[in-house]
Amino acid sequence: MSGCGRIIRGVIFDLDGVLVSTDEMHFQAWKELADREGIPFNRHDNERLKGVSRARSLDIILEKAARRYSEDQKSAMASAKNDRYRELLAVLAPRDALVGAGEMLTGLRAMGVKLAVGSSSRNAREILRRVDLLRLLDSVVDGTDVSRSKPDPEAFLLAAARLGLRPAECLVVEDAAAGIEAGIRGGFSVLGIGDPKLLTGAGRWLSGLSKSGAAELIAGW
Ligand code: BG6
Ligand code: MG
Repeated sequence: MSGCGRIIRGVIFDLDGVLVSTDEMHFQAWKELADREGIPFNRHDNERLKGVSRARSLDIILEKAARRYSEDQKSAMASAKNDRYRELLAVLAPRDALVGAGEMLTGLRAMGVKLAVGSSSRNAREILRRVDLLRLLDSVVDGTDVSRSKPDPEAFLLAAARLGLRPAECLVVEDAAAGIEAGIRGGFSVLGIGDPKLLTGAGRWLSGLSKSGAAELIAGW
């Protein structure tokens, strides 16, 4: 939503694909698993995995599987994917924060804007520590804090509550269709990072955080 004359006092960032390019590592780890199982999986399919939980991601991949998997097999596959993903995360360093992310958080903080991350990932805190962005945030809501992942608004609503703000006072920044939907359902203003054709419903879009100044990001909602 935009153009309603809202004053933005808090910004809630998605993590993977907005602050850090870990969306590529998720893709690589799932792709290796899908290839091992002989399941077709490409970047187009991967768009549907963005923002949703690990278990839901696996269910989406298995829609194209030629055979059925038991719950035990699925849980083993989800763990194997996470083990591989965590191997890939081991090399993450501050240089892996996406261009403009640190500057945006620093700029907003200097303006007194409250900052949170609202992520479906159970690895979010470790990632934020590795890229050295954790210290710039007032609160982190991750996949261990919520029972319903995006497109449910639970993560964003909890993040707003922890910031002491109402949804109408917060801007959600998201790169996933599921996250855009979660923001809208929660009553937030929503900024899409990426292709407007894939991120319908957002009030505005940017190709990346480096494309805006901090004051510009929160003005005019
Ligand atoms: C989201 C990603 O941030 O986290 C999803 O966009 C991912 O693709 C989800 O499935 C869960 O991540 P994790 O680290 O708990 O497997
Ligand atoms: Mg994301």
